[in-house]
Amino acid sequence: MEALYGGAQHRRITIQELAAAKVRGEKWPMLTSYEQMTASIFDEAGIPVLLVGDSAGNNFLGEINTIPVTVDELIPLTRAVVRASKRALVIADLPFGSYESSPEQALATSTRFFKEAGAMGVKIEGPHIATVEKLVASGIPVMGHVGLTPQAVHLLGGYKVQGRNDGDAIVDAALALEKAGVFAIVLELVPAELAARITSALKIPTIGIGAGVHCDAQVLVWTDMMGITKNPPKLAKAYRNMRAEMLAATAEFADDVAQSRFPAPEQSFN
Ligand code: KIV
Repeated sequence: MEALYGGAQHRRITIQELAAAKVRGEKWPMLTSYEQMTASIFDEAGIPVLLVGDSAGNNFLGEINTIPVTVDELIPLTRAVVRASKRALVIADLPFGSYESSPEQALATSTRFFKEAGAMGVKIEGPHIATVEKLVASGIPVMGHVGLTPQAVHLLGGYKVQGRNDGDAIVDAALALEKAGVFAIVLELVPAELAARITSALKIPTIGIGAGVHCDAQVLVWTDMMGITKNPPKLAKAYRNMRAEMLAATAEFADDVAQSRFPAPEQSFN
């Protein structure tokens, strides 16, 4: 099989290729995306999996956190990411309140993401075992998510590292999710040593965020990765300072307008 990063360009990455990458020890990157421009850039760069995260709430929709995000809000964002990418496997987060009631509710929500947006898989937070079984039996690839699950922030008492004292519970949840059929699992804000233990206990890939270097893959929220977020979390690394770049460009444009330097003859018409 070809490498995930920089491999086949002509078709979508499959969940089978993600499994094979773990076997040969190839680590891979995942990024969030909420619209067409970043989707096409990250796809062109070779990112194999794009997550239309409910982090759209506090990175795109102006919400304070992920909780208010609705299915009706996330579907058009997912559709844009699918349309703007050619190669990435596009996974949609199921928003808070759209899957917890029953496996049937989760199937109905996932079906909307598949039919209306073209999603290729869904992600759900927490060990909803019967729900994962139902979705997988219905032909829907599911990504799990354990550790800090942001939709449960009020129950957890904040965005805190999980599993310092109850690591076994997180290992058990990850194993149960794997058994139920998830194709990969996000480990968020857990000690690096615990993430390493889970990664070696599972056959499916682990995707870390604030979970140390031993996970099979790493995910970042794209606005954190590009240095746009004003107060990024400790777990994030900004690879550029796009906030400063964009502020400088905006000030330059405003000054050009004030000084009648824009539009120049090149941008004007006879
Ligand atoms: O919504 C999101 O962006 C996520 C990632 C941080 C894994 O769940």
